[in-house]
Amino acid sequence: MNHLSNQTSKIEFNLYQPHANQIKVHASKARYRVIVGGRRFGKSALVLNEALARAFQLRDQIIWIILPMFRQAKEIYWIDPDITKYFMPYVQAGLIRVDKSELSLHILSTNSYIRLKGSDNYDSLRGAGIDLIIWDEVADVKKEAFDTIKPALADSPNHRVLYIGTPKGLNWFHDFALKGDHNNLIPTYEKQVKRDPEWETWHFTSYDNLAWPEGSYEREMFVSYIDKEREEAVEKGTLSFFNQEYMASFEEGAGMYFSTWSHKTHVIPPFIPLPGSFIIGGMDWGYTAPFAFNLSVVEKVFNENKPFYRVKTFFEVYGTNKKPEEWSDTIKEKLKTYKLKLEDISWIQADPAMFNKGTDGAICIKDQFVSADPRWSRILKPAVNDRIPGWINMRTWMSKAPDGIPYWVITDTCTALASEIINATFDENNPEDLAGDFDHCLDQQRYQLRALKHIDAKTGKLLSKDEREAKQDQFFKDVKDAGKMITIDPDRFKR
Ligand SMILES: Nc1ncnc2c1ncn2[C@@H]1O[C@H](COP(=O)(O)OP(=O)(O)OP(=O)(O)O)[C@@H](O)[C@H]1O
Ligand SMILES: [Mg+2]
Repeated sequence: MNHLSNQTSKIEFNLYQPHANQIKVHASKARYRVIVGGRRFGKSALVLNEALARAFQLRDQIIWIILPMFRQAKEIYWIDPDITKYFMPYVQAGLIRVDKSELSLHILSTNSYIRLKGSDNYDSLRGAGIDLIIWDEVADVKKEAFDTIKPALADSPNHRVLYIGTPKGLNWFHDFALKGDHNNLIPTYEKQVKRDPEWETWHFTSYDNLAWPEGSYEREMFVSYIDKEREEAVEKGTLSFFNQEYMASFEEGAGMYFSTWSHKTHVIPPFIPLPGSFIIGGMDWGYTAPFAFNLSVVEKVFNENKPFYRVKTFFEVYGTNKKPEEWSDTIKEKLKTYKLKLEDISWIQADPAMFNKGTDGAICIKDQFVSADPRWSRILKPAVNDRIPGWINMRTWMSKAPDGIPYWVITDTCTALASEIINATFDENNPEDLAGDFDHCLDQQRYQLRALKHIDAKTGKLLSKDEREAKQDQFFKDVKDAGKMITIDPDRFKR
């Protein structure tokens, strides 16, 4: 790298001089390098200069720098003067020719190319003979893009890949980072890790940008800016976001729409409901798009101030390409394994579109269920379909009740539901809303929880079994003393 700055040291250009932490990455010989870096560490400067160094030193190189979006690639590497300053002097000196329409740099002395790309355009990711691929902002790249590029690497036996970015929850960037983490610097969060000798990972916080000497005005301003961000985050209760962005730490909840959800606290082993349980459900209709159906039991938990409800989602039917009568049979069959029948279900909040006639006058989906089995008629109800209040309500149900267990839990058999919860992220265009490739189980869950009153029992204290029984005994004694005891035939409770 240093040869670049040496070569041009006579000219008064502000060319790249890698700082001590950037040097560690440039010096590595690993085929796959992963740099987990905080905001403003110098990630983009590092990768652009790695690309320039290679392109100036080796003949006929093809180097791609890929960002999540083409628009971003343009903004960062083509417009931002803090980054363009690293190659513009070469352009002005006639050593590099730029192609504005395809955002590429042609290094004339070596016939090497550096091209800028966006992962939002898969077609642009097809190519052959690529020598170096650089992924910037890896955590935001569309996951399919990594697969699209694999064939292009297969016929480039000497290829090198550099993954650089700031963490976003525990997504694929976390997986890449773990592969090369030979010194166990990055928490695994119980993921199964296969370390690979061809991979090397570094971890740098924003403070590790050593571009300015200790004690200099620039360094002080830089550090005090980040310190201030931290203070604000503590005040606002967004420390995990600060830790992710500036400390480059992989935070379990950050970036997730349902950030309080955790497998440890919200997922329980499977169970069969007790006879007489209060059972509710939700249904989201789809034929080519997935169909989602989940059932929950609602339990009353005794609490000093007010008892509250706990919802345990325990049953899931999910899939595509089945007609209502087929789903009806699938559901009835599966209910048997839980010793349940359709009449044990109190209600199902269903996709309101299921109650509309088809445009060609075809009978509505709800009626198709009813003609498959008339017992659907009593239980299927059109759900309230207001997305944002519904999501907020769902988050409330995920919060912890006084006994330390969330108000809403699911069994580990509800795999589609769990996966949709974990993968839901914020909608970029409407941050109050949720974006996820799949939200069918989430929709049905939103319907069912929306129809059930959430009772906030935060202030209460949970009664022990003895206290609860004593309280109940006292109640019956009071009623009896008042001569108001009514007797109920115990057979009425039998099924
Ligand atoms: N070695 C260096 N010498 C001098 N300045 C540097 C060096 N490396 C980076 N910088 C400067 O630090 C700032 C941040 O660099 P850069 O944009 O590369 O960081 P980044 O980690 O990609 O930031 P972001 O998280 O915003 O994408 C820029 O102004 C850049 O010019
Ligand atoms: Mg950057």
